[in-house]
Amino acid sequence: MLRITGKTDVYGIFGFPVKHSLSPLMQTAAFEALGIDAVYVPFEVNPDNLGGAVSGLRAMNIKGINVTVPLKEKIVPFLDRIDEVAAFLGAVNTVKNENGVLSGYNTDGDGFVDSLEEEGVDVRGKTVLLIGAGGSGKAVAFALLNRGAGRVIIANRTLDRAVALSEKLKSYGDVEAISLEDVERVLSSADLIVNTTSVGMRETDPPLFDYEVIPPSVVVVDIIYKPFKTELLKVAEEKGAKIINGLGMLVHQGARAFRIWTGKEPPVDVMKRVILEQL
Ligand SMILES: NC(=O)c1ccc[n+]([C@@H]2O[C@H](COP(=O)([O-])OP(=O)(O)OC[C@H]3O[C@@H](n4cnc5c(N)ncnc54)[C@H](OP(=O)(O)O)[C@@H]3O)[C@@H](O)[C@H]2O)c1
Repeated sequence: MLRITGKTDVYGIFGFPVKHSLSPLMQTAAFEALGIDAVYVPFEVNPDNLGGAVSGLRAMNIKGINVTVPLKEKIVPFLDRIDEVAAFLGAVNTVKNENGVLSGYNTDGDGFVDSLEEEGVDVRGKTVLLIGAGGSGKAVAFALLNRGAGRVIIANRTLDRAVALSEKLKSYGDVEAISLEDVERVLSSADLIVNTTSVGMRETDPPLFDYEVIPPSVVVVDIIYKPFKTELLKVAEEKGAKIINGLGMLVHQGARAFRIWTGKEPPVDVMKRVILEQL
C-alpha cells in the first residue's frame, strides 16, 4: 500500500489535458517496486499558466516532471538548461529539479529505439521509412540516426514539413523527404516502416497508403498504443510482417525519465505490466 510521509518526494506530469495520461500509474508503480519514497501525480497546466507552474516546481521542491502535449516546446524557455537532444528537438518531455536548477531532457526518441531493441530489432544500418514529421516524427528520426540507422526516408502529408525536417537532420546521416503519395514506390527498399502520425487512432481514419502492398520481410511499427493494434498493424500482421505498437515507446521513454531522476535502473517489466493491465 502507498504510504505517504513527510519525507515523500513528489514527481508529476504537466499536460493539458492530462486526465488520459498513463504515466502516474506507471511511475508510481516503478517507485513502489524499488521501494523509493516518492509519488507521481498529474498536473493539469493551462499553457497560459506554464511559467507559474514551472516556478512552482522550484518553490515546492518538486523533484521532477514529465511534460506532454501541448507543453513540450513551450516549457523550453522556462528551464535553466537543456540537453543536446532536447535542444535539437526544441522540445522537452522530462525535467529534473536539482536544488532549484531545472534541466530538460527529451527521452521520446531514444525510448522508441529502446523499444525496438527490446523486440530484437537492431536499427543499425537499416533503411527506415518514417511516416510523419510532427513532434514525435522528429524525435524518432533524430534518435534513429543517432543510434545508427543507415537511411531514413521521411514521408509526410505536408511535404514541406518533411523537407524542412530532412534538411535539419542531414548532418546526422542519410535522410530523404518524400510525399505520402510516394510511399509505395520506396516500400521495397525499407527494412522498417514507422508510423508517427495520429492516423489510426480512430477506426474511421483512411489508410496512409495501401497497406495490402506491405512485404512480409519488413518490420512495421506504429507508435500509437490506443488502439492496441491499429489498422496498419492488423494488415501488416496479416501480410506476415513483424509488428510493434507504441506501448514499448511509452514505457521506455518513462524508463529513461526514471533513470534521469533516480539514477536507478527502472523496473521496466513492472512499468509495462501496469500499463498493459490498464489498456
Ligand atoms: N507511444 C508513445 O509513447 C507516443 C509518444 C508521442 C506520441 N505518440 C503518438 O504519436 C502520434 C503523433 O503525435 P505528435 O505529437 O507527433 O503529433 P503532431 O506533432 O501533431 O504531428 C502529427 C503528424 O501526423 C500527421 N497527420 C495528421 N493527420 C493526418 C492525416 N489525416 N493524414 C496524414 N497525416 C496526418 C501530420 O502531418 P502534417 O504535417 O501534414 O499535418 C504530422 O506529421 C499521436 O497518435 C500520439 O498519440 C505516441
